[in-house]
Amino acid sequence: MLSDLSDLAVPVIVAPMAGGASTPELVARVCDAGGFGFLAAGYLTPQALADQIAATRALTDRPFGVNLFVPGTKPTADLTGYRDRVAAEAARLGAEPGEPEWDDDAYPAKLELVLGLRIPVVSCTFGLPQPGDVERLHAAGSLVVATVTTPAEARQAVRIGADTLCVQGAEAGAHRGTLADDGVSPGGGELYGVLAALRLVAAEVDVPLIAAGGLVHGADVAAVLVAGAVAAQLGTAFLRSPEAGTQPTHRAALADGTRRTALTRAFSGRPARAMVNRFLQENGGHAPAAYPNVNSLTKPVRAAASRAADPEAMSLYAGQTYALADDAPAAEVVERIARQARDAMSRAGRRFSFLLAD
Ligand SMILES: Cc1cc2nc3c(=O)[nH]c(=O)nc-3n(C[C@H](O)[C@H](O)[C@H](O)COP(=O)(O)O)c2cc1C
Repeated sequence: MLSDLSDLAVPVIVAPMAGGASTPELVARVCDAGGFGFLAAGYLTPQALADQIAATRALTDRPFGVNLFVPGTKPTADLTGYRDRVAAEAARLGAEPGEPEWDDDAYPAKLELVLGLRIPVVSCTFGLPQPGDVERLHAAGSLVVATVTTPAEARQAVRIGADTLCVQGAEAGAHRGTLADDGVSPGGGELYGVLAALRLVAAEVDVPLIAAGGLVHGADVAAVLVAGAVAAQLGTAFLRSPEAGTQPTHRAALADGTRRTALTRAFSGRPARAMVNRFLQENGGHAPAAYPNVNSLTKPVRAAASRAADPEAMSLYAGQTYALADDAPAAEVVERIARQARDAMSRAGRRFSFLLAD
């Protein structure tokens, strides 16, 4: 098993990106370039996940990880009002709203799958595995990474036996990995930027930390490494790479680069960062804290919008710095970030040389 993710040739991890952006090609290219990558198990059937694992293994000899959504408790919020809003959105697109159902994302079956296939690194988000399952993952040779957004969540994750934490700042694209949504504030809890989160977490726990959120340039990666992270996890930086499975309309909005981003429960019921569009603006303030029920409710609307190439009713997930990312192939992104990080470190080293002077 990898002792941790501290010894990567290039300390850049391509984030798991559920919903289609993560592909075996994306993960394999980043791993081959000296980084590391996670497949996203979220929303996939266990069979589709098994197929993606097999496809990735066929593309690279390098180790790679799998990310699981760990289900939370069933929400109690009333969805009637929001269902009406989504029905109106569906009608615009000639679609029907989905059934606002709770489901566990087939987590138990996917957990058994990664155990059986002895995946070297298993990361989780939205919830924490049971301590017994962490022990089983360890016995299968897996390093266990838990996503956290606050120091309190970091303590919880270390208590259940997580080996490494992925510290996600509020800049991050798509869903926040908060363990418990407060149901009130836009981000589901206190919003820490990546550096604040990293330093606060580092003060509380003594495990390797991966930093995530808005990191797109090598200088950003250098900054989080200096602040104590062992690696940086980047999602949005790879969304436009040809190997990513990002929808064409989503790609076009990323390339355009003019929309601002906001945290919203509009699409899934769980806070997530997306480019602002009409659906988000008109519905975000009304969306209940009810994941994944809202996700299944809006799914046909988002799918119909995507088919119609209508960016105004899709979930255009993106991190705050998305406009700085480009469409380079994944290996080039990794190589460029490594180069930029080296340059940034040597520039900073020169500026701080007075610290070394006697
Ligand atoms: C489209 C998209 C989908 C994502 N899906 C997942 C996921 O399935 N699991 C997960 O742990 N994180 C997911 N993330 C969040 C990333 O792990 C990471 O925190 C985030 O990408 C970092 O911010 P950045 O996008 O600004 O780089 C996703 C991010 C994006 C952009």
